[in-house]
Amino acid sequence: MGKAKKSYVCQSCGAISSRWAGKCESCEKWNTIAEEVVEASVPKGLGTAKGRKIDFVSLSDPAQSDYPRHVAGIEEFDRVVGGGLVPGSAVLIGGDPGIGKSTLLLQLVCTLSKKNVRCVYVSGEEAVDQVRMRAQRLGLSDAPVDLASATNVRDILASVEGTGKPVDLLIIDSIQTMYIDNIDSAPGTVTQVRTSAQEIIRHAKARGMAVMFVGHVTKDGQIAGPRVLEHMVDTVLYFEGDRSHQFRILRGVKNRFGPTDEIGVFEMAGAGLQEVENPSEIFLSQRGENVSGSAVLAALEGSRPMLVEVQALVAPSSLASPRRSVIGWDPNRLAMIVAVLETRCGLQIGGCDIFLNIAGGIRINEPAADLAVAAALVSALQNNPLPPETVFFGEVGLAGEIRQVAQPDLRLKEASKLGFREAVVPKGKKNGQPKRVRGDTIRVSEIDHVQMLGDLFGDNNVPRAIAV
Ligand code: TYD
Ligand code: MG
Repeated sequence: MGKAKKSYVCQSCGAISSRWAGKCESCEKWNTIAEEVVEASVPKGLGTAKGRKIDFVSLSDPAQSDYPRHVAGIEEFDRVVGGGLVPGSAVLIGGDPGIGKSTLLLQLVCTLSKKNVRCVYVSGEEAVDQVRMRAQRLGLSDAPVDLASATNVRDILASVEGTGKPVDLLIIDSIQTMYIDNIDSAPGTVTQVRTSAQEIIRHAKARGMAVMFVGHVTKDGQIAGPRVLEHMVDTVLYFEGDRSHQFRILRGVKNRFGPTDEIGVFEMAGAGLQEVENPSEIFLSQRGENVSGSAVLAALEGSRPMLVEVQALVAPSSLASPRRSVIGWDPNRLAMIVAVLETRCGLQIGGCDIFLNIAGGIRINEPAADLAVAAALVSALQNNPLPPETVFFGEVGLAGEIRQVAQPDLRLKEASKLGFREAVVPKGKKNGQPKRVRGDTIRVSEIDHVQMLGDLFGDNNVPRAIAV
């Protein structure tokens, strides 16, 4: 090994600088630069040495590695990874501490190993007995999973190799606890995380073994360490949820082997994570009847329609800059809707304190929620409940116009399945054409401006929405 070289590495973005600084010049974050020893193991003359010839193959040749995916039968998980784990793929799963990452992975390996998929679970955070106790609690202690508590990457890989039979799935909980002994930096530093992950992925890919890493997240919800970790793996999943609620959402944000933005919904119960097959029913189960400020949104998460309740509270404010408190939605988007309601509809709402909550602890990211938020705000401001059994979806533009969103029929179908009788939606492509979804089961009011929301309260000054 050559002489060890010291350098200063930003723990957030991985940028390398020659001296220490309080602020990283690349990502502009403070206090993220730490001294690390970089292994100087580049062989002499690498730049000039002749490379080995590699064989090019034709793109049109049939794929050699057409192995079947490992399907766990945990439907909410299988769907998010695109229909089961691909052999040889690397998956990174991030999430807040205590959200249930270890529980999910333990349940996954136990279920898979009962289906003859050979699984190894390596925990760098918990002792073997702790994992055993958890498995007992989950009623899964009879599963033939190989378990170890270790943090040295070389030891782990040698042991995986040494078990004789090929391993199908390796779990590393978590990548921040792993280290490679010839690098001097502490576990969790950029160099260690990157090199450990690289080493494990290289090993796994060469043997067709799938590997899943748990990744810690930082205060602002990003996976800790360099972004490069997310580039290295094939699939990135986030396990999210509000710890005070029992619901957990597994969200795919990158997937080389399937669609992204799919979600899986789980409920954290006494006996571990339970799948939630019909999330809409649960998210709406505690909805009060006839309350102002509550609107039902027909949302779409990946390929999956889901109904959630949007709650708004508008109160007079005594503050110079009124309070805006948002849970489960984008605060900037709320500011925009408030401005549109004030400027385009003349509602006196900007000077009020506004509280917005997506019930059930779920987070909604799509702009289709705009219309439901606007409806909830108008209803809260006028202290007038929205018509019962009505769902909303549509994007609101800056001029107050309502724009179309993806898959309206799928959303309407879900609403009608759950007993909703009316829907307020953006105007379709064929302007003014009545729209029918599944016979007459849901009445669709197509509107093209937020002003038309006033019509829902029987205010005759605004144009009537089209009723089918
Ligand atoms: P854990 O999987 O350890 O979280 P992470 O690995 O993401 O840090 O989850 C631990 C939490 O889950 C803990 O607060 C207790 C709760 N829990 C249950 O409610 N029921 C259960 O059956 C289990 C195993 C955990
Ligand atoms: Mg854990």
